[in-house]
Amino acid sequence: MLRMKKTICILLLWIGCSNVFAQSSKEKVMQIFIDSLLNKMTLEEKVGQMNQYNGFWEVTGPIPKEGNAKLKYDHLKKGMVGAVLNVKGTENVRKLQEIVVKESRLGIPLLFGYDVIHGYKTISPIPLAESASWDLEAIEKSARVAAIEASAVGINWTFAPMVDITRDARWGRVMEGAGEDPYLGSKIAIARVKGFQGDDLAASNTIAASVKHFAGYGFAESGRDYNTVDVGTSTLYNIILPPFKATVEHDVKTVMNSFNVLNGIPATANKFLQRDILKDKWKFKGFVVSDWGSDAELIPHGFAKDLKEVAMLSANAGSDMDMESSAYVTHLKELVEAGKVDITVVNDAVKRILQVKYELGLFEDPYRYCNPQREKELIYHPTHLAAALDMAKKSIVLLKNATPAGQGNPILPLSKNQKNIAVIGALADDKNSPLGSWRIASDDNSAVSFLEGFKKYNSNFVYAKGADLVKGPTDFIHEVNINETDKSGFAQAIALAKKSAVVIMVLGEHGFQSGEGRSRAKLDLPGVQQQLLEEVYKVNKNIVLVLMNGRPLAITWAQEHVPAILESWQLGTKTGDAIAQVLFGDYNPSGKLPMTFPRSVGQEPLYYNHYSTGRPNPNNVVFWSHYGDELNEPLYPFGYGLSYTNFEYTDLKINTDNPSAISVTVQVKNTGKLAGEEVVQLYLHDRVASTVRPVKELKGFKKILVNPGKSVLVEFVLTDTELGFYNNEGAFVVEPGDFEVMVGTNSTKGLNAVFTKK
Ligand code: BGC
Repeated sequence: MLRMKKTICILLLWIGCSNVFAQSSKEKVMQIFIDSLLNKMTLEEKVGQMNQYNGFWEVTGPIPKEGNAKLKYDHLKKGMVGAVLNVKGTENVRKLQEIVVKESRLGIPLLFGYDVIHGYKTISPIPLAESASWDLEAIEKSARVAAIEASAVGINWTFAPMVDITRDARWGRVMEGAGEDPYLGSKIAIARVKGFQGDDLAASNTIAASVKHFAGYGFAESGRDYNTVDVGTSTLYNIILPPFKATVEHDVKTVMNSFNVLNGIPATANKFLQRDILKDKWKFKGFVVSDWGSDAELIPHGFAKDLKEVAMLSANAGSDMDMESSAYVTHLKELVEAGKVDITVVNDAVKRILQVKYELGLFEDPYRYCNPQREKELIYHPTHLAAALDMAKKSIVLLKNATPAGQGNPILPLSKNQKNIAVIGALADDKNSPLGSWRIASDDNSAVSFLEGFKKYNSNFVYAKGADLVKGPTDFIHEVNINETDKSGFAQAIALAKKSAVVIMVLGEHGFQSGEGRSRAKLDLPGVQQQLLEEVYKVNKNIVLVLMNGRPLAITWAQEHVPAILESWQLGTKTGDAIAQVLFGDYNPSGKLPMTFPRSVGQEPLYYNHYSTGRPNPNNVVFWSHYGDELNEPLYPFGYGLSYTNFEYTDLKINTDNPSAISVTVQVKNTGKLAGEEVVQLYLHDRVASTVRPVKELKGFKKILVNPGKSVLVEFVLTDTELGFYNNEGAFVVEPGDFEVMVGTNSTKGLNAVFTKK
């Protein structure tokens, strides 16, 4: 290691001109260092860099066979491991790093990867919830906090953000992404990458990000995880790829491929995706890591006959690092020797991996992330908890707020002096479920529960569970066992509701009902909760429904009957505090849905930016595009969310004087009594094009704070980037013609105008 440090110093001196620290010189120093290291490496050591092992304590995929720990240790000592995952804690990380640095021939430090998805110990809202904030600064900060905590425990690489666009609420991993829209999804993806990687990757509190899953994983047929993906070129280029491309342009360091087959070719062995698009067309400089065991899964996919063929196909297709399949470490050397994989393929992969290590500063100090003092000081730091609370309240979406009969005001916000409140629902008293899925390092039961948060504002309530949501223990790797039958607590809850002035029902999904491997065929309130809601409604209609869920739900009955509905997702560590702030009006809700909520599960996949059909409009005979037993329209559209105040949109103006910077302005007035934030959304529709365009596409948004009675002028500038699209050859084209513009409060409500692009 000392030798390596010395080499870097000598190289720096050698470059030694006045702007030695300028980017290009730094780049040169790095390239010289990497080339010289590569020259010293044996083929076995090179292949070793392309091998990633799971650690020995936790799993985030199918449990590996026991007894391979010794082999893994052996490989570490021989420099045959480039990275590990699921090893955390400065002490553990240092121990493993020491083995490699001190005992392997070249001492090339390891990368330590971990799924830091929405926080490490301080847990932020699930990513889908954060996305409902449309607040890029807050989202970036949330990722920053996650990086600070993760880096403090030795982790230098996160498998996040997941940037898969998701249109099907049945898919369990919708909780992990930014929802259905590629424009919003790209902005959020960039914010998250910036948050993780910061301005200086070599700082001790920044970590490398990995955008995943490349590509198409969010389009699993029928929402069933790991299922086949078959999409056309238009969807691939215009919907699936944009967030990946955007983050590559913002220097994301790694990309993870995916489990799915895309149009017949598994993503891990997909040359078109990984070489032609990612590395050649987009000039991606980082490396591609496979998903957990996705190399070996080429065999059950029916794409490779054995592990040797797996290694050949994946490496040649541009998958640089093998996570937990042992395909490369077992077979790549012999494949190169037999001429089946060219040495340039291996050299290129290894250079990419070494470069990320270099940029992280690991060659200068492999223990850069192993300071126990930082670990002690930074986990659950008060500023992190404050950021988690801020993010949580901004993630909440007000779905309905009606004025109950005989009352002058909408039911929310509640008065801090409100008497005689009933709180019903098992989730109200749950400190675990609100942490959501994919929070593997978090402390169980560490969330502020709904009841705990509520109590800080108002203790005039009585709580009744009503019914258990789950039976038995829950964890990250086992199926959740939902209570489908036990209603023994109903009577007590109903009696309580009967004598209360207002009933708050906290219902929804368990935190482990979404996430990987957790698809659902139903989108209703699980278990006996819908029945509980209807029974309570019979005795007291004054209900506030607080939803906790990891995906859009079809809560059509509730929308029709219950006067107030608050979407609180799974908000992480500060759940109860954030919900209470909104319920009692200390924070005016400002979230907007990043995914469409269906009326019925049968409408899925349901999304706002669909194409028209040849028969879009109602007809007096059946021959138009519709269901016989359900509306086409969603329950809540994309971009939807209410406030405790009202916003009025006027004066939509378009100025096309400069055709390459078309200006769109609108006045937004707060006509209510409370200050509030509004997400002003701009949608475009290209009326006629060489490939059909969606009925509407988000192409701009601004989150503004407006005081009561005041107006704000909001301007959007449309350039070719917003007006163009990818054709079926993958070329970005801008075509002249008429464009419809809508600026408004959600994807279905706003002011409309038309302009012509010359
Ligand atoms: C998931 C990835 C994750 C990996 C490592 C896989 O099962 O699909 O998203 O990063 O495991 O934990």
